[in-house]
This record gives sequence, structure tokens and C-alpha cells, in this order.
Amino acid sequence: MKKIVLYGAGAVSKNIIKMLNPGKCQVIAIVDKNKRGRYDPPKKGLWWDIPVSWGGDILSPQSLKDISFDYVLICSDLYQCEMRQTLQKLEIPNEKIINASNNDFEFDYRHFYMSSLYTRNASPSHEALVELTDCEIFDYVICRELMLRRKRYIEDFQMQINDDYVRLSTIELISARIRNMGLDGSIAEAGVYKGDTAKYINEMFPERKLYLFDTFDSFNKDVMSKENGNVSDSFIDTFKDTSAELVMNKMKYPEHCIIKKGVFPDTTAGLENEEWAFVSLDMDLYESTYSGLRFFWPKLQKHGYIIIHDCLHHQETAGRNAMPAGRAVDRFCEEEGINYVPVTDVYGSVVLTK
Ligand SMILES: C[S@@+](CC[C@H](N)C(=O)[O-])C[C@H]1O[C@@H](n2cnc3c(N)ncnc32)[C@H](O)[C@@H]1O
Repeated sequence: MKKIVLYGAGAVSKNIIKMLNPGKCQVIAIVDKNKRGRYDPPKKGLWWDIPVSWGGDILSPQSLKDISFDYVLICSDLYQCEMRQTLQKLEIPNEKIINASNNDFEFDYRHFYMSSLYTRNASPSHEALVELTDCEIFDYVICRELMLRRKRYIEDFQMQINDDYVRLSTIELISARIRNMGLDGSIAEAGVYKGDTAKYINEMFPERKLYLFDTFDSFNKDVMSKENGNVSDSFIDTFKDTSAELVMNKMKYPEHCIIKKGVFPDTTAGLENEEWAFVSLDMDLYESTYSGLRFFWPKLQKHGYIIIHDCLHHQETAGRNAMPAGRAVDRFCEEEGINYVPVTDVYGSVVLTK
């Protein structure tokens, strides 16, 4: 049971009180610079279930010096900066301070999300807030759910520093939808490189066949030169540091993975009758992406999904999508009379569904 102090006796503290999980924490004091007298608790919510060991009088922030507690929660939107300074002057250790005020929580959430693209660890303060709360407030539920979700990615999927949470969680939601709809069909990734997305796909579809299409030896120079003119050897060399073996070693269920090594779409020979539930297209090139759509779409199950990476980043240079994969998708959608859903991941994926 964590002992917590609320700093700020106003409206924010009442919302925070309603979020607290009585099974995990106990309010042992409420402090405020200006207010004195009895604390006026919220009329509704979980307040009455929270074991409160303090007498009910609002104390001064200075009294924190004499109280033993685990966390102090800053509960004010307006005075959050001033409160933090006061706590620092009182030499309260940073790891005991949680800014639970609305603005900062949301700001911090975004900061947490952005920074978490680069760092594996949530800040201790956020971990603590997630641990202490059992949210009843809509906005907070969303934030908390997202935070918990991301935390689970870090723990369950061993998410790596540069992994794109939005891309991966989109694929995970798609996998859940496919499972819930009882859709049959195999899974594929075309454009695997080192398998850093494929390994998550393999984990998200544990019982399905996963076809992995790539040269496993970088972009094919002829294919690439056709659409890009002269391609330097040094660019090709950048993507050579992979192999089918390296990719397979990352797979949790390698027994379900089928390597299709060579230039796509030649490597699709023999798979004309295969049906697909989910496909990730990540070959970057215009022709490869277009041929991928032409190959997979007719045999995509009704309600199946194709996610195409690298479509919207640097979009619309001089009025036209500058991303080759994006242009291939635009052409395909126009020809088929269909549309896509843009995804806010790092390189602007798009999703097609039937
Ligand atoms: C951007 S990387 C894929 C990244 C990977 N999906 C990931 O998330 O880590 C693009 C890959 O597509 C492969 N590729 C592109 N066009 C191809 C084609 N026509 N046939 C086979 N592989 C191709 C390249 O060799 C390269 O490994």
C-alpha cells in the first residue's frame, strides 16, 4: 500500500481522488499553500472507499518535511510549476513527485510517447501514476490505456529503441480484428530486410503461415535502377547486412515462416491460389509495391488487410506524392476505385481493407 500526499486542495485533487485505486494507495495528507481547515472531499466517486488515515485538515507544504510518504501528487493545473519548485526547495526527491495535474499529465503523456520512441523506459513518475490509478475519468482512461499498452509492448514484445509503436500497434489491432472475425488466410511480408517488423508480425499471428519475401541481399540493382536511374553501390551496400538465417533467428515461431528469397514478384510463383488475411508491403520501390498490390489484392480475404509502409512521409512535393510506394498505392486505388486509411506512424503507412 503506497502512502500518498495530495498537493493542492482544489478541484484537481478531487478528480485525482476519484482515480485512485484504494487497493493500492492510501491518502495520508492533503497540503496546500493557501487553504486551511477541513478538506472538502468529492461528493461522488471512490473517495469513501479510500482508507484515509489523516484527520482531514489541510496542512502546509512545509509539513511534508515531517511526514513519511511514497509519492506527492501535484494537483493543480494553474500552479503546477510553482508547486514543483516548492517541493524542490523542500528537497523532496524527484522520484517521489508525480505531476497529476491535467495539462501536465497530457503534456507528459505526449512527451512520454514521443520520447518512448527513443527510450525503452517510461519515466518512474509515469509508471507510478499508472500503478496508483484505477481511472474512472474518460480522458484519463484513454491516456492510461495507451500508457499501459505501450508498457506491455516494451515488456511482452521486447520492443526495441527505434521501433515504431504506432505502426506496430496498428498491426496488432489488425491482428486482433482478423482473429475476432474468424478470418482464414496466410500472412505475408514483402520487404523484410532484417525482419525487425516481421518478428512482431510472427508473434501477433502465432498460428498462421508467414511468407517472408525479400532478396535478403539488399535492393536488386536492376529493379532499382529502372525507376531511379543510376543507383550507387554504397546505397545497395547499406541493406546487404542481412540474411534469411539472421531473420529466421529472430522469429518466435520459425516453424510457421516460409522464406521466399529472390526478386519479387518472381518469388510468388506457385502461390497463385494462396489466400491472404494480412500483408505488410514494405519494399519502398514503385514497381515492387505496385506488383505486390496486384498480386495480393485479388486473393486477400474479404475484410482482410494490407498495410503499405513509406507512403506519406514528405508527401506532396510539387503537388505529387514523392514517395514511390505512395504513388504506387495512389495508382492502384484509382484503378480499383478504392481508398486507404492513412496511419500516423513514422513513415506514413496506409491501410487497405476489402
Ligand atoms: C525498407 S526495407 C524493409 C524493412 C522491414 N520491413 C522492416 O520493417 O524492418 C526494404 C526491403 O525490401 C526489399 N525489396 C525491395 N524490392 C524488392 C523486390 N522487388 N524483391 C525482393 N525484395 C525487395 C529490399 O531488399 C529491402 O530489404
